[in-house]
Amino acid sequence: MKFIHLTDTHLMPPGQLLKGLDPELRFRACIDDITRSHADAECCVMTGDIADLGQEEAYRFFGEQMDRCGFDYHPMIGNHDDRDVFRRCFPDTPVDENGYIQYQVITSAGVFLLLDTLHIGSHDGEFCAQRQAWLADRLKQHAEVPVYLFMHHPPFELHLPCIDCIGLKQQEAFAETLRPYTNIQHIFFGHAHRPLSGNWNGISFSSLRGTNHQVGLDFNSTTIDYVDERPEYAIVFLSENQLVVHTHCYPLPD
Ligand SMILES: [Fe+2]
Repeated sequence: MKFIHLTDTHLMPPGQLLKGLDPELRFRACIDDITRSHADAECCVMTGDIADLGQEEAYRFFGEQMDRCGFDYHPMIGNHDDRDVFRRCFPDTPVDENGYIQYQVITSAGVFLLLDTLHIGSHDGEFCAQRQAWLADRLKQHAEVPVYLFMHHPPFELHLPCIDCIGLKQQEAFAETLRPYTNIQHIFFGHAHRPLSGNWNGISFSSLRGTNHQVGLDFNSTTIDYVDERPEYAIVFLSENQLVVHTHCYPLPD
């Protein structure tokens, strides 16, 4: 099974620059590359920060571009997104009983659980009691099949102070919720705007650059240094006994 992991597109209304870069042009180039090389993917998961300022025109543009791929896409929400505008623009995306944009996707390789970690008014991530209950319930329901988790905020520290200080706040509660399960295969997240991978409590994880600006590699500062490193997306292969993530710096137009 092959799927695409996208994150942090930070789209603006088409034509508007962000940090001196053109998010529309860069995302269009990303979708051009995906349609050219990976039209056979089963789906795409987008782990949040779709729109830099939560504007409707940005979400509409995202949807138009994703529709070009020809496979299902599953959008998620990040700290830059606006939950109400998102819900208006993607009315078919499921929400839970409390209105959080978190849902499950049954794929040919297992169950994808997509979490909503937005904390309105903050760049921190939140895993409140309602969302803890939702995840605990879903993990219990799918305890016998491979489960893959997707979230915007990393649920642990990355040794990147500028991201760690705006990470998920209830990290211990998150770890406790996952602890009873041995079928959680991997955690995919965004927010860091950096390619990284590793293992946490026996669960592998990965993240990647966004499609507009990136975060500079700085292991000391709590201030984000935005840099123009090449954007990327990831192609992920899943099988019964293996998971492989390929990050790909796609070509940009001159
Ligand atoms: Fe972001």
